[in-house]
Amino acid sequence: MISRRQKFRTKNGMGWTAAVPGQMSERFIAFAQECWRPTVDLGCAYGVAAIPAGAIAVDLEMSHLAALPTGMARVVGRFPELAFRAGSLGAVHASNVLHFLTGEELEEGVQRMGDWLAPGGKVFVQASTPYQRPFAGFVPEFKQRVGAGERWPGWVAETRLITGYRRLHQYPASIHLLDEEVLRRLFRGWEIEYCGYYRRHGLPASLYLDGRESVGLIARRS
Ligand SMILES: C[S@@+](CC[C@H](N)C(=O)[O-])C[C@H]1O[C@@H](n2cnc3c(N)ncnc32)[C@H](O)[C@@H]1O
Repeated sequence: MISRRQKFRTKNGMGWTAAVPGQMSERFIAFAQECWRPTVDLGCAYGVAAIPAGAIAVDLEMSHLAALPTGMARVVGRFPELAFRAGSLGAVHASNVLHFLTGEELEEGVQRMGDWLAPGGKVFVQASTPYQRPFAGFVPEFKQRVGAGERWPGWVAETRLITGYRRLHQYPASIHLLDEEVLRRLFRGWEIEYCGYYRRHGLPASLYLDGRESVGLIARRS
């Protein structure tokens, strides 16, 4: 039996992937299973959401995609530098991927998602927040940046400077810890069905802080 706590390291130092889908991924899977248009899972890793959703699996790491079942549609590439036909997709899923992008890449990425989606299509996002145990020491600075009106208060150019976490080698050199305000701003003009914090299913206990470890968003293209 699969444990909800089981997790698998990525092969490229971009964190880990859980054996069970997080809350936003569950919503994506349910939506995708009913959707007649193609759907896409950005940064799918080993397919925890892409496989049950039947989505086109996208990842920048070829060896992750190689582990997927034969016959699944897959694209090796780096979001946002991808090309799908305008208005062709029913949904886009990005779970634990957007926090690897800079603010400018996020803005470009949201614009591209809007181009790819058909009217009524949805985006499902889950991302890491500053409210994870390894980043607790960064929270005061994060709040100061928010207070000062910084556009990207969670951008950390050198992850090693804000944490001594023993599993730091599993994180990329830079990280973009996201919060509800930044996600809402990125998707301004979309119909936001949900945006908020939660503790994702399968989160390792070593990351627990105050229940706001993940931030999620479901937005509909009007
Ligand atoms: C932390 S894992 C998350 C995997 C899975 N989505 C989940 O929720 O468990 C991040 C995955 O995204 C991929 N990735 C990171 N940045 C990416 C980008 N800009 N475009 C495509 N894939 C990316 C990594 O190779 C890795 O497989």
